[in-house]
This record gives sequence, C-alpha cells and structure tokens, in this order.
Amino acid sequence: MIIREFTPKDLKRVYEIESMSFDQSYGINMFKKLYDIGTGFLVAEKERYVVGYIVFWIKEEGLGHIISIAVDKNYRNLKIATLLLNQAIEVFKKANIFKISLEVNVNNKEAINFYKKFNFKIDREVPGYYNNNEAALVMYYNLK
Ligand SMILES: CC(C)(COP(=O)(O)OP(=O)(O)OC[C@H]1O[C@@H](n2cnc3c(N)ncnc32)[C@H](O)[C@@H]1OP(=O)(O)O)[C@@H](O)C(=O)NCCC(=O)NCCS
Repeated sequence: MIIREFTPKDLKRVYEIESMSFDQSYGINMFKKLYDIGTGFLVAEKERYVVGYIVFWIKEEGLGHIISIAVDKNYRNLKIATLLLNQAIEVFKKANIFKISLEVNVNNKEAINFYKKFNFKIDREVPGYYNNNEAALVMYYNLK
C-alpha cells in the first residue's frame, strides 16, 4: 500500500469511490476544481489500483479542514483511511496547523467511530446541514 499525491488520472477512480460511499456526491468536476485550487489531495494505492482518497485544505490560518475521505467498500477495515488521515495530519503539522475540523453526518456511525478512534472530539451538531436536511456533527482534533 502506498499513499501518494493525487493526479488528474485518478479522477475517475476517486469519483467511483466517492459515489459508492456517499448518498450525495461532490461530483467529478468538483474534485477537479479542488485539485486545481491546490487543496491537499492524497490517494491510497494498492498494486497500482486506487482504493481510497482524502481531500483537505487550510480553512483559515492555523485551522485545517477535512473535505472528504473515503475507501472503496471492498477495501475497508484494512486501516487504509487511518494511513490517509495520518498522512494528512503530517502535512498539516508542517503547515503549523493547530486544529483540524470536519463535518460528518450524525447517522454515519462508522465514520464517527473512525474519527473518535483518532481522538477527534464532537464540537456541536448542525441541524439541516446536508441537502437532504440531515444534521451534521462538527468534530475537531487538536494537534498541539
Ligand atoms: C469511514 C471510512 C473512511 C473508514 O475507512 P477504513 O479504511 O475502513 O477505516 P480503518 O480500517 O482505518 O479503521 C480505523 C478505525 O475506524 C473505526 N471503524 C472503521 N470502520 C468501522 C465500522 N464499519 N464500524 C465501526 N467502526 C469502524 C474502527 O475504530 C477502526 O479501528 P479498529 O479496526 O481497530 O476497530 C470508511 O468506512 C468509508 O469510506 N466510509 C464511507 C465514506 C465516509 O463515511 N467518509 C467519512 C465521511 S465524513
């Protein structure tokens, strides 16, 4: 397994993984735009096959944000997301980020569990955050 920088050749696979992972999709064009504006964008590759990705950015000075993370359904529970998030945290540390935030659907127990395992804390619930009116939890992680 390697973690490497995303390249536009990975777009189709990243979009496939996103589509199988979320009810609502950012869409392929949004991933291209995120890459173009220079967000952090890493993929996990197993035997030359992309099996997961993470997109993240610096929201404001000192504050990092996870935009999206997902792993192909057939490759879950193999610590691939752990590798991706650890690598993103390393990038954030180099950029002097002291806090990372993210939003996760309140019903997404797997992801909430995943972030809690990383020691992310729940900050607050935002009702109606998603297009389908479901609520999000805002979670954060202190780096220092
Ligand atoms: C959440 C997600 C990224 C985790 O990816 P993964 O590579 O399977 O996760 P890991 O193998 O690194 O898991 C690490 C820890 O997370 C937790 N976890 C992961 N999947 C879990 C599940 N299905 N149920 C409960 N806990 C889970 C566990 O604590 C696990 O540690 P353990 O194996 O020692 O118990 C993956 O399930 C996914 O792509 N989900 C759909 C997309 C999504 O919800 N993204 C996050 C949106 S904010």
